Amino acid sequence: MNKKILVVFYSRTGTTRKIAQEISNTLSCDIEEIVDLKSRAGIKGFMVGGKDAMRRNLTEIKPVERTPSDYDIVIIGTPVWASNMTPAIRTYITYNRNKFKDIAFFCTTGGTGIERTFIEMEVACDKKPIATFAVTASQVKKNIYQGFNEFIEKIKKHDR
Ligand SMILES: Cc1cc2nc3c(=O)[nH]c(=O)nc-3n(C[C@H](O)[C@H](O)[C@H](O)COP(=O)(O)O)c2cc1C
Repeated sequence: MNKKILVVFYSRTGTTRKIAQEISNTLSCDIEEIVDLKSRAGIKGFMVGGKDAMRRNLTEIKPVERTPSDYDIVIIGTPVWASNMTPAIRTYITYNRNKFKDIAFFCTTGGTGIERTFIEMEVACDKKPIATFAVTASQVKKNIYQGFNEFIEKIKKHDR
């Protein structure tokens, strides 16, 4: 496999980061963490975060280091917030949607909102993902990644 792959993710409490690192290690590919410059800490951060996600608000993110157009596949990961992607990932997609060749998505969740989140991401990218993967935060805690290998295989086998 000589495709160039980038994993891009946002994580508030580390669950999505764990999966992003697992994907990057498995595929031996680059990884970039999106940093939301708006505080999402504490109860207030939770409440405002949920509202921002629901309203499809953008936020301010730290400038990224990697250029998505340098990669054959960009794998984008987000926690589910209010059955949607996070404002940080929406902002990243909005700024970079013209620079994606092929894309894949993953999300972590309390258990709901997976399908809607992937649809919102597809609409924001204006592109269909070649693969998707979702896992609950409680499964991540137990290191159970059902469907992970199939997700990786789809990415490895994908040809333009
Ligand atoms: C603001 C906010 C909204 C959330 N909304 C949902 C939701 O609608 N459905 C759900 O199943 N989990 C929801 N969650 C739980 C997260 O999706 C879940 O804990 C996720 O794995 C956290 O990822 P992280 O540790 O990478 O930040 C929400 C969490 C936050 C902070």
